[in-house]
Amino acid sequence: MAVGDGMALTEASALERDASDPLSAYRDRFLLPTGPDGSPAIYLAGQSLGLQPMTARAAVEAELDAWAGLGVDAWFEPQRPWFTLDDALREPMARVVGARPSEVAILNTLTINIHLLLASFFRPVGRRRRILTDAPLFPSDRHALTSHLTQRGLDPERDLVVVGPRAGESTVRASDLEGAITEHADALALVFLDGVNFATGQLHEIERLTAAGHAAGAIVGWDLAHAAGNVELSLHDWDVDLAAWCTYKYLNGGPGAPGAIFVHDRHARLDPALPRLAGWWGVQADHRFDNVGPFVPDAGAAGWKASTPSILALAPVAASLAIFDEVGMPALRRRSVELTGYLATLLDDLPVEVITPSDPPARGCQLSLRFEAADAMLGRLAARGIVADVRAPDLIRVAPVPLYNTFHESWRLADLLRESVTAA
Ligand SMILES: Cc1ncc(COP(=O)(O)O)c(C=O)c1O
Repeated sequence: MAVGDGMALTEASALERDASDPLSAYRDRFLLPTGPDGSPAIYLAGQSLGLQPMTARAAVEAELDAWAGLGVDAWFEPQRPWFTLDDALREPMARVVGARPSEVAILNTLTINIHLLLASFFRPVGRRRRILTDAPLFPSDRHALTSHLTQRGLDPERDLVVVGPRAGESTVRASDLEGAITEHADALALVFLDGVNFATGQLHEIERLTAAGHAAGAIVGWDLAHAAGNVELSLHDWDVDLAAWCTYKYLNGGPGAPGAIFVHDRHARLDPALPRLAGWWGVQADHRFDNVGPFVPDAGAAGWKASTPSILALAPVAASLAIFDEVGMPALRRRSVELTGYLATLLDDLPVEVITPSDPPARGCQLSLRFEAADAMLGRLAARGIVADVRAPDLIRVAPVPLYNTFHESWRLADLLRESVTAA
């Protein structure tokens, strides 16, 4: 039953919805942190760090056992050689983001991957030298974009075009982004946007804005940190040039888990001469040890890899991707739209400002709530076993994650907020 179609918003009805949804069972596949009273916390911080899949520990232990039992030979053990373990994850990762396996690689972490991609794809030439991005802009993205401009002798004050919400509005209008892309068309080398904005939870129209960037003659890249594993993506069909994301948020790969990239086959296959920061891991596995000859990149996104992946860090990512493969993004997104819609409906009845768009296609599972004293409110929630986070100065982010959060937890959050805003 969809939100708003007549079902009472009572605690009993929330419990009923949990009991009747077959995906509710996936919660048991995750380890839930403990709240102050010793019972499981209401963990609504998957937008920051996803929970640990129950299978993660065994996956790490299997690699520790391989290390203990085989030592260096584990790199080439015939059944599951470490030497190509990252490649084995390309297919499930490609399914999460709507890509071909050749368009995806798992490597490093997000900011480093943005740097590797920009080294190849930010090619300022003459007047066409600017980067256009959206605000609020995540600090690391700002530093990365700025450093690529300054490295090439450009001036971020002039050459970084940041398009934010209008005065009095909280999220960016797609038409304003399109307008700015058109306005700067002759000067744009790169459009680089946040798929789901980290602060506001706004989901951008990725296909539409990619087309707008291409019409302006720019390369279009996306930071999908808050989109991968959260919303359905079709990066290949949407003709996205490049993207990068982390696996520690909605993909539950663990703190500091390896990141991933997408490079459209159009680039990776047609232009092996693209400049890149190369290393041996970007060469086809059976040629990595060649010590003469030029760098010949592996086909596709794998050609952007440079160095040895952390096998222990890949293990939980593999465990988590197996769960995503079981559920599939369409079913996960369906539940997510229901769950976040349910929380949004409950919050509608409270004196709480939700700045995330109310239209389900314009958001993922995160809702961002504005409070004058956000830190104090976060403290009150934490004392009652609710884990959320604050983005300064005044936003509390909560994400009912469809793999492990429940309708009842959303109900309890709204109930506590009602109590807290009335008491405040
Ligand atoms: C939108 C966004 N971009 C970049 C980063 C930086 O990621 P990393 O520290 O893995 O490089 C984050 C981290 O949370 C993020 O949310």
